Amino acid sequence: MSSTPLKVAVTGAAGQIGYSLLFRLASGALLGDRPIELRLLEITPALKALEGVVMELDDCAFPNLAGVEIGDDAEKIFDGANLALLVGARPRTAGMERGDLLSANGAIFTAQGKALNKVAADDIRIGVTGNPANTNALIAMTNAPDIPRERFSALTRLDHNRAISQLAAKTGAAVTDITKMTIWGNHSATQYPDIFHAEIAGKNAAEVVNDQSWIEDTFIPTVAKRGAAIIEARGSSSAASAASATIDAARDWLLGSPAGDWVSMAVVSDGSYGVPEGLISSFPVTTKDGDWEIVQGLEIDDFSRSKIDASTAELAEEREAVTELGLI
Ligand code: NAD
Ligand code: LMR
Repeated sequence: MSSTPLKVAVTGAAGQIGYSLLFRLASGALLGDRPIELRLLEITPALKALEGVVMELDDCAFPNLAGVEIGDDAEKIFDGANLALLVGARPRTAGMERGDLLSANGAIFTAQGKALNKVAADDIRIGVTGNPANTNALIAMTNAPDIPRERFSALTRLDHNRAISQLAAKTGAAVTDITKMTIWGNHSATQYPDIFHAEIAGKNAAEVVNDQSWIEDTFIPTVAKRGAAIIEARGSSSAASAASATIDAARDWLLGSPAGDWVSMAVVSDGSYGVPEGLISSFPVTTKDGDWEIVQGLEIDDFSRSKIDASTAELAEEREAVTELGLI
């Protein structure tokens, strides 16, 4: 592996997710021993708090942290970045749906898309965690016409991990026995966590569970509404688990998904599985060397079809809304 530091930009670095994400990135959770350089973007009023976080990063004396730069100017911070993790955006609070954040957060991603387009490294990969993640990624992608569309993704890995954890708890399997989990659609309550293609120690997961009402009435809503349940319990939105999933997604994207398995990523649709072209929708993907490919040929029954269609219809509505807002 190269020993040149990877330049990793993180936005919203002084926020809740940032407070977990930066330390895990710096300690090697992304790339092991390969050094990284952190480029941290915040809004001006949060720079002082960010300075405090950087003091703590210094105090960890991480051997593979090759440098940290902070600032409030996206063009300076993204300059030469190889990986941009776009976390900075307002989180929803109790009672809100993620779609309520469209106008509040959308504008952030027009500016950041333009800045990335101008100054990021040629091999840039961009992962969007800030909500509404899929449509924010669409906004950034549309505002960065010189960056290949395949370089943008939105985070549904947290949903994927949640689905694995719920299935493991139901069946008594180890999380490591569960493969081929899929999240389809939007990172929202309409998402479709699909266990019909998942496997538990090589056996079809839906057959092992053998309980359609658990799948429909417990599993799917528990995964899809987990973000709200955490807000309700914690008083603020998921942070450490979101940071962990952000790293899982970026690591697999750069280094490759495990052999014989796939991961869920929201990526630009090429029309596969009837998902309208151009939407950023979650699919089962395999990844290798910074590229992804949608897993093809999965059989979609009527139940799955209606779930996928409902979530992608919501994504199409979000696209219309941000078009009307002039963001794309
Ligand atoms: P937070 O409010 O603690 O932190 C957000 C940070 O972003 C703040 O420090 C803020 O100053 C900064 N920020 C705002 N505008 C910015 C801009 N233009 N440039 C740079 N930084 C900016 O929020 P959080 O808990 O860290 O969550 C961040 C986002 O991630 C929220 O939108 C949340 O809903 C989302 N989220 C997504 C997932 C997912 O699975 N996709 C999971 C959890 C949270
Ligand atoms: C989550 O899934 O935990 C985040 O997207 C936060 C939220 O608003 O649900």
